[in-house]
Formats: sequence, structure tokens, C-alpha cells
Amino acid sequence: MGALSQNTAILLAITICWALTVCDAVVSIPAGPLKSRNCTEHLNSLKDSSGKIAGNETWIPKCDADGTYADTQMKRKSGLKFCVSKDGNILVAPQRSLSACDCPRKRFEKFQTGNFDGYIHRCDTDFTYAVLQFNPLTNATLCLMKEGDVIEAYSGPQIVACKCPRTWYEAKTSPLPDRYTPQCHPDGTFKLIQCHRGRGCWCANSEGEQISKILPETQADRLPCQ
Ligand SMILES: *[C@@H]1O[C@H](CO)[C@@H](O)[C@H](O)[C@H]1NC(C)=O
Ligand SMILES: *[C@@H]1O[C@H](CO)[C@@H](O)[C@H](O)[C@H]1NC(C)=O
Ligand SMILES: *[C@@H]1O[C@H](CO)[C@@H](O)[C@H](O)[C@H]1NC(C)=O
Repeated sequence: MGALSQNTAILLAITICWALTVCDAVVSIPAGPLKSRNCTEHLNSLKDSSGKIAGNETWIPKCDADGTYADTQMKRKSGLKFCVSKDGNILVAPQRSLSACDCPRKRFEKFQTGNFDGYIHRCDTDFTYAVLQFNPLTNATLCLMKEGDVIEAYSGPQIVACKCPRTWYEAKTSPLPDRYTPQCHPDGTFKLIQCHRGRGCWCANSEGEQISKILPETQADRLPCQ
């Protein structure tokens, strides 16, 4: 893609992002002109004739097999991790704790290509995927797991909240014996009465927190939930 169309795409993306107020302050769009580097060549340029890398290099890039940059990189001395695009642009500055770079990279690639496929992913402050994503093209809300998997059962125009679906999905996909699975309304909100089979029922608030005493399931209709 040419520099002009790339810049246009980014400007457009920023404008759209602003207009929808789905912007995410933590994932930066590289400020200067975008550079594009080949990771394998970058790595090789740091090696001397015997293939060694000087001890004072602050960053030894980690490359994927195709010669692009791995999404998560690490500063050599401090061990701080940071996120880069496939072509080496820094997307998230070095962090003390950083578990994933998928979301920042996904965001950047949408900005870079201008192909939003309806929406731009929002990332959480820990750089994983934000739980609630909105697609203005279809008016659908999608609930996502931290790793980016769409919770299909709770995605669509009727969805207004995603906290319950994410907890529900977590419980469903790693069923421990006697694990409590929250009960969600079809719109993704927590049901007012939550029950744990064999343990009883209680009232929950909109965050799913228990706000009443627990009664046996047979007496659940006596709970003052509202
Ligand atoms: C590392 O040290 C060498 C020799 O002392 C010096 O020439 C080089 O510029 C240094 N590189 C960095 C990245 O500081
Ligand atoms: C990066 O460079 C290497 C070696 O020159 C080459 O094999 C590889 O295909 C290049 N990768 C990309 C993504 O340009
Ligand atoms: C999305 O919602 C807006 C506002 O309610 C409406 O104008 C628009 O037609 C809807 N788009 C779709 C694809 O349903």
C-alpha cells in the first residue's frame, strides 16, 4: 500500500474511531511516518561476522518464520514487554506486565489496511480484547473472550451487556465439578435471581454480585430480588 493511501486510511480510522467514541487511549497509532522493516533482516543486521550480537543491544527482535516481527517483544535488560506490528512499528510501549498483543495488533492492522470489516476492536487496559464490541455496520454487539473468541450465543443487536456472557462461557468451557455458572438474560445482563444447583439461590445486581442471603432453590420465589 502506498504511503498516501496508508496515511489516508489511518486518518480515516482515527476519525471513525473518534466519531464512534470507541477509541482506546492505550493502544497508540505510531505518531511518526510508518516505517516498515523486515524482522529477519533487522536481526541479522545486529549480528557480527561470527553471528554474535553485542551485549549492549537493548532489543533483540523476535521474528516469526515468515520474517515478520512476533507480536510480543521484550527489552533485553529490563525484561519489559511491548507490542509491535508485523513490520516493526511499536504499538504498545514497554510494560511491566503484558500478557497479550493480539488486540493491539488487530486494531493496528485494521487502521493500516483500512479494512474495518464493520468495526475496530477495542482493547482493555491490560491489552486483551475488551469484552463488549459494537459493530456499527450491523448494529450488533459482540461479546468477546479476552483472547478474542466471539461468544456466538451472546452476539447480536439484542445484546446490551457482556460481563455475564464472558463468565458464563468461561464456566462452560472449563467445567469444574460443582462450578457455578451464572445465568444471563438473552440480552447479556445477569438474571436477578442466580442459582447454584444444590447450593441455593440469591439476588444479584447488574454486575452479577450477590446482594442477598442465599435461600434453598425450593424457596427462590421468596427472594426479594428486583
Ligand atoms: C555497543 O558497544 C560498541 C562498542 O563499545 C559500540 O560501538 C556500539 O555503538 C554500542 N551499541 C549500542 C547499541 O549502544
Ligand atoms: C524478510 O527477509 C528474509 C530474508 O531476506 C526473507 O526470506 C523473507 O521472505 C522476508 N520476509 C518478509 C515478510 O518480507
Ligand atoms: C442501526 O441503527 C441505527 C439507529 O437506530 C439505524 O438508523 C440504522 O438503520 C441501523 N442499521 C442497521 C444495519 O440495522
